[in-house]
Amino acid sequence: MKVQFCCKTLDDTKKLAYKFANAVRNGCFVNLYGEIGAGKTAFVKLVAEALEVKERVTSPSFVILNEYHSGKLPVYHFDLYRLENEGIKTIIDELREYSEGKQLTFVEWAEFSQNEFPFNHIKINVTYNDDDSRLYSFESDNAATDKIIKDLEE
Ligand SMILES: Nc1ncnc2c1ncn2[C@@H]1O[C@H](COP(=O)(O)OP(=O)(O)O)[C@@H](O)[C@H]1O
Ligand SMILES: [Mg+2]
Repeated sequence: MKVQFCCKTLDDTKKLAYKFANAVRNGCFVNLYGEIGAGKTAFVKLVAEALEVKERVTSPSFVILNEYHSGKLPVYHFDLYRLENEGIKTIIDELREYSEGKQLTFVEWAEFSQNEFPFNHIKINVTYNDDDSRLYSFESDNAATDKIIKDLEE
């Protein structure tokens, strides 16, 4: 299933992120898609804030992975941009482990991977419009993650 939200301001995105944080109580694996500046990292920051992560959340572009353990759920934030195709093949099994426990894992630049990620996950696609508003589209293809994105609509 697929649900979409138009966020006119960063505050709208914040409300959506707080709902999402509430809906993923048992953890989830999330791939984020969208151009540079669309609002992928902004969403992760706001979800971390909602989970009461105390550390400052920064973009993992240079370090590939940032992790935060001070909030209600452990948050893992990958940016695969520097790995590209070959690199992603080498870590796909490692990524699978991040999809299995009670934690929240975000991955930016998963589009380098030629294949579908072979485990349950939610896809969030972020696009921006001329008026600076953002469209956040959530897509899921299994019952467990469908439930999460259904909760966002309430
Ligand atoms: N409605 C909105 N939702 C998300 N980000 C927004 C919004 N309006 C403005 N922004 C700004 O757009 C920028 C998005 O940057 P970022 O999240 O780092 O992009 P990405 O990670 O997709 O490359 C941030 O500076 C954020 O404050
Ligand atoms: Mg980013």
